[in-house]
Amino acid sequence: MRLPPAPDHPELRLRHACSRLSYVSHRLTIPGGDLRVLQPSEAAELPDDGPVEWAPLMPYWAVLWRSGVALGRELANSRLVGLRVVELGCGLGVPSVVAARAGAEVLATDGSDEALELVERNARENGVEVATARVDWTAADDLVARGPFDLVLAADVLYERASVALLLSLLPRLGGEVWLADPGRPAAEAFLEQARRRWPLTETVRDGVGIHRLRPAL
Ligand SMILES: C[S@@+](CC[C@H](N)C(=O)[O-])C[C@H]1O[C@@H](n2cnc3c(N)ncnc32)[C@H](O)[C@@H]1O
Repeated sequence: MRLPPAPDHPELRLRHACSRLSYVSHRLTIPGGDLRVLQPSEAAELPDDGPVEWAPLMPYWAVLWRSGVALGRELANSRLVGLRVVELGCGLGVPSVVAARAGAEVLATDGSDEALELVERNARENGVEVATARVDWTAADDLVARGPFDLVLAADVLYERASVALLLSLLPRLGGEVWLADPGRPAAEAFLEQARRRWPLTETVRDGVGIHRLRPAL
């Protein structure tokens, strides 16, 4: 069961902000055409240029992280027509929207309902549709049942140690290739060290963000 947030919890404050339609609009330069991304205005001033010490101030999904933007730019060079794509921890959903624009059938997932509402809206603002589903990596059987997917996307999802084991176990159950964008979080290093031992992995860098391509297998 999901308990409601305490009255002074940032998520609740953010919900009020969302219900007042308090958004800022960003125009992102992406190969193939600019992308318009709406973001809760309360999260707009938060920097994404170092350790996430300000983390308790806002839910993570509401921030426009540089990893999501870098993964979106990387995807924009790919031909994705007809592919089944799932994004984990999508937040504002930049990679999902770019993948849909490139012709993929996209399922954007996150643990937060508020994120999913905004991703659907961000997709519409850019003339595409993405399906959404609330998925927590601790209980992802329903998502696995919707697979296999051709491509799994995830940007800046490894900032907590607990996520390392969760994603090492979930990713091979989803099928296909994984593109994981990460700005160098310590937990991501721990994940990659183990992933390299298990699966083929190639790495590139875009806009200072690591783009790790894995082929997980059970
Ligand atoms: C740092 S944000 C990154 C958001 C987005 N991928 C981006 O790059 O802009 C991490 C995201 O992962 C989601 N998340 C964290 N732990 C999760 C879990 N156990 N299950 C599902 N989503 C989770 C958060 O809600 C948040 O949207």
